[in-house]
Amino acid sequence: MTRPDAYDPFADVYDLWVASAPVTRRNAGFYVEEYLKARGPVVELGVGTGRIAVEAAQRGRAVTGVDGSPRMLERCRERARAAGVEALVTLVEADLRAFTLPEPAALIAIPFHTIGALLTDDDLRACLRQVHGQLAPGGRFVFDHFVFDPALAARSEGVPQLRAEARDAQGRPLLLWKCDRFDHERRHIRIVVWTDAVEPDGRADRRYRFLDLRWIEPDRMRALLDEAGFEVEALHGDFDRRPFEPGASTHQVWVTRALRTF
Ligand SMILES: C[S@@+](CC[C@H](N)C(=O)[O-])C[C@H]1O[C@@H](n2cnc3c(N)ncnc32)[C@H](O)[C@@H]1O
Repeated sequence: MTRPDAYDPFADVYDLWVASAPVTRRNAGFYVEEYLKARGPVVELGVGTGRIAVEAAQRGRAVTGVDGSPRMLERCRERARAAGVEALVTLVEADLRAFTLPEPAALIAIPFHTIGALLTDDDLRACLRQVHGQLAPGGRFVFDHFVFDPALAARSEGVPQLRAEARDAQGRPLLLWKCDRFDHERRHIRIVVWTDAVEPDGRADRRYRFLDLRWIEPDRMRALLDEAGFEVEALHGDFDRRPFEPGASTHQVWVTRALRTF
């Protein structure tokens, strides 16, 4: 089980991380569109630093963001304040497996692979139960995950990757690195992330961070959604809403609706 505040050590580099991940240029527009068309309260689980929620708020949509990391939430609060939309962004510090919303939601979203932070079927089931129980009748649940590519994993395992180059708060060159390791039996990815803040003499101040993510095959995801009482309205293969193609799609983008329980 991962701790809900596992992202605390990432808060200072999270926006740099996002900027170096091409998928974030595609997923933000998709979610903002979903938030704007929802007919009632919108909730983002794993709101992070608010890159999607604050953009939706800037377009007039109130969003409740749930996250277990106090440091990510603090950055989200700062972002909402800086954008002048603090009144439209309500933040709840809670675990995705045990959160309570202020009111039933018309839409609950989990963007950007965050579903993978739920490392076991039991974790995922607990989250799906919370989502199902707190959606208003007819409410939708929308989320995405990547599709695990074994060939890509074999090529990249253990290979350090320079993700971004920036400056830290003291003006030093900052290098952001990452390296993945794979546990195929448990379907876990261990992501080692480190930063080097480079001094004028070339020596570096290095900091490590660790993250565990789980990959889930689309068929398994469908079975868990079915078991939790969700009806799948669409499975897209990317954020432009193209149909999911087994063996070709790099993403699984799920649009679901909670079936009523009687
Ligand atoms: C990849 S970030 C996504 C942030 C934002 N949605 C975005 O798209 O930029 C995942 C977020 O989920 C939160 N998170 C992960 N596991 C969690 C858990 N079990 N409970 C609460 N929050 C969790 C992390 O703290 C982090 O802020």
